[in-house]
Amino acid sequence: MKQRVLVTRAELPGGGLARLASRAEVVRPGTGKPGPAELAERAGGAAAILALGNDRVDAALLDAAGPALRVVALASMGYDAVDREAAATRGVVVTHTPGVLAETTADLAFALILMARRRLGAARDALAAGRWDLFRMDDYLGLDVHGSTLGLIGYGQIGRAVARRARGFGMRLLHHDPYAPTAVADPESRAVDLPTLLAEADVVSLHIPLTPGTRHLIGAAELASMKSTATLVNTSRGGIVDEDALLQAVRDRVIHSAALDVFEREPMGAELSPLVGEPHVITLPHIGSATEATRAAMVDLAVDNVLEVLAGRPARTPLPG
Ligand code: DGY
Repeated sequence: MKQRVLVTRAELPGGGLARLASRAEVVRPGTGKPGPAELAERAGGAAAILALGNDRVDAALLDAAGPALRVVALASMGYDAVDREAAATRGVVVTHTPGVLAETTADLAFALILMARRRLGAARDALAAGRWDLFRMDDYLGLDVHGSTLGLIGYGQIGRAVARRARGFGMRLLHHDPYAPTAVADPESRAVDLPTLLAEADVVSLHIPLTPGTRHLIGAAELASMKSTATLVNTSRGGIVDEDALLQAVRDRVIHSAALDVFEREPMGAELSPLVGEPHVITLPHIGSATEATRAAMVDLAVDNVLEVLAGRPARTPLPG
């Protein structure tokens, strides 16, 4: 008999879902993102749950699935929405999708660096609004990316992929990894402590997971210690930055700009964060890994993890210990 797998979305990119459906009984919602009650209702008897990074997987959902549950496979790198302890005490393996999205997310981080430093959003909006009536020497003056200093907080797969791009722009590199302060030696990037990175970087880019230890890692004090010409880029998780403090900092010109793909409250619907539309802040709706190939690869890896565990083999990419 086929084992039951709860998939939290009706549709997923690529062929992974069809492959899963050929090997397991797939249960999924009709459309959109189901609420916790609908998910719990569908979870009964599931041996696996395939979820996205922002689907809350808590003790209630694990219990709704029941004792047959063996694996929660996330089609995401981030795993802050999963109650790891609840999964561990129930003997449920949790997996994620490192590797396959690093380059794509680094591309987006670099695009955000360019957008914020060169004021591309403001320039594009002015043109589209019919305000380009004269070439002026002092319009849309930005700050050079080439030759500036990039400070990477987090020097794992994504941080290092951003560093490779930055080298092509002749940027000087600094990194600080709260999880591996000494392990990540790199002759082309100087490992520094957080205060040094914040004080010296022209661009500070975040590439760490959201954990109780990294929540609001960047707050008013950290922003105040950055250069007044600096840009903060966040493609990791919104909760790493204190958004109220960031809004105040860009309004008071404590820093030059911010470029954000992630927010403390996601999604936003029509109730926009005040950061959206703020001059000197570039905002995107969490699209770091959003290319056809990468999203399909994420689903594929999540499906592989489900099938491996259900076949009694070790997961390919379990969460780090
Ligand atoms: C990730 O993989 O963590 C991305 O943010 C998408 O959830």
